[in-house]
Amino acid sequence: TKITFIEFNGTERSVDAENGQSLMRSAVDNLVPGIDGDCGGACACATCHCYIEGPLAGKLPEIGEAERSMLEMVEGVTAASRLACQITVSGDLEGLVVRTPQSQH
Ligand code: FES
Repeated sequence: TKITFIEFNGTERSVDAENGQSLMRSAVDNLVPGIDGDCGGACACATCHCYIEGPLAGKLPEIGEAERSMLEMVEGVTAASRLACQITVSGDLEGLVVRTPQSQH
């Protein structure tokens, strides 16, 4: 599934993400800067914070309780904020655009 990551400075990188993997893992495995995933996807570090906008944002799973409380501790959170480790890649997300925050660069 093609996912495009856009850095705060506008640099774009498209990756072919494996379905069933988390968005965080896809970014880390493809060496996308701006998504670190320090806790390994346990929803405990928020270094996978990203912004997801556009029509495909509606296809994402709802924000869970753990994700919400983690996001409350992060700076620069907006209505588009998600934790990439809590999103599973699937064919439904083809063309998804993910922006990464400046603080993670
Ligand atoms: Fe740590 Fe997502 S990888 S919260």
